[in-house]
Amino acid sequence: MPDVFDPRVFARAVPHDDLRVLRDTAPVSWQDEHEVGIWPAGPGFWAVTRYDDVRHVLRSPADYSSSLGATQIRDPDAADLPFIRRMILNMDPPEQVRLRTLVTGAFTRRRLERFAATIQERAAALLAGAGGRCDLPRDVTDDLPLQNLSDLLGVPVADRALLLEWTNRVIGYQDPEHATVVTDADGRPVNPRSPAMLADMFGYAHELAERKRREPADDVMTALVAAEVDGERLTDTELEMFFFLLVIAGNDTVRSALPGGVLTLLQNPDAYRRLRAEPDLLPSAIEEMLRVHPPVLTFRRTATRDLVLAGQPIAAGDKVVVYHVSANHDERRFPDPFRFDPARTPNDHLAFGQGPHLCMGAAFARLQMRAFFTEFLALPPVELDGESKRLTSNFINGVTRLPLRW
Ligand code: HEM
Repeated sequence: MPDVFDPRVFARAVPHDDLRVLRDTAPVSWQDEHEVGIWPAGPGFWAVTRYDDVRHVLRSPADYSSSLGATQIRDPDAADLPFIRRMILNMDPPEQVRLRTLVTGAFTRRRLERFAATIQERAAALLAGAGGRCDLPRDVTDDLPLQNLSDLLGVPVADRALLLEWTNRVIGYQDPEHATVVTDADGRPVNPRSPAMLADMFGYAHELAERKRREPADDVMTALVAAEVDGERLTDTELEMFFFLLVIAGNDTVRSALPGGVLTLLQNPDAYRRLRAEPDLLPSAIEEMLRVHPPVLTFRRTATRDLVLAGQPIAAGDKVVVYHVSANHDERRFPDPFRFDPARTPNDHLAFGQGPHLCMGAAFARLQMRAFFTEFLALPPVELDGESKRLTSNFINGVTRLPLRW
């Protein structure tokens, strides 16, 4: 059975050939969770690779829970589970729906659109600053989402280095270049996601919430502090957990989408030329970038009872991992799925998920992509200027190096 678990596989390339074999011959396949670096061996999981099955799992939270074992492939320490479950991402309906109703109002289109001009100016300035040659992640796209997220949250832009540090601690730990490895007294690696490792982040979130109560502004943290539905408000813990989630969810995803989209254009010169000539195609081209390069590769669920999926029996308690990247290339759903078609319609890709947990930041992500690619397409023709490099991760479809010249 092809190994689509090993994060090192994804460091080389998305294993499209193996994923296609799985879609064709074993659409729900058992994956061995062998030890990789500081990642200890786990019990293994079912990999779901076809579009319809991925969609079904994501829309069936009563069967495939986000809460039982949370949403990452790696099992959290049992002691940390109650803490991790306080994040909306790791809840099931009806708790999840209650919290989602409370926070939805913080993401109004009006609030997001207010940032559009600033985001585009930033993208223009960062690209101009590169002077015709750059390593795109290092010089442009690592910083841009962080600055934008700081604005959205109402964090001083000067504090964005902290946001990056927390993201790297949580997401980057599979990648030796990004990891902050901490060991316990016995020399064993500590789970970087544990509450103890994140005390500074929660302290910061707490102070930020206090500040927004005293000095309200037009940002998401202020809206969250004030959010009220049927006389109910977010508790302090809920607020802090939501801040934590936004920092993680709103950063590495966009940081992957921007270089991922650029790389896709460079690999498809005809589409790139067409887009430069017809910039009105940008909105559909962005959806196509998200389809072929989904920033999130996978998400995990846990079976709540004995089930059968695509003919495969699954036992209660088994881990079930959906592969968005495979669903988005499923021949059964997308004609000619490996063709990048900037005008593709319909394009109901699953990059933002599906069902109750559908990404809350999708509009903000699209806004940032639109601003960035408007500026990118206005540059003279851009060429690859060396080898690109990928993040070692089976979760984030990261591009860590992308040398360009124009
Ligand atoms: C291109 C960029 C992005 C991608 C591809 C993406 C992808 C996703 C996906 C796949 C989920 C569903 C998780 C699941 O099924 O368990 C999700 C949830 C979420 N995303 Fe995003 N995301 C992006 C950007 C953002 C941004 C910019 C923000 C915030 C500013 C954000 C906030 C959230 C939140 C709060 C959730 C949890 C919703 C819930 O549990 O009900 N995302 N995202």
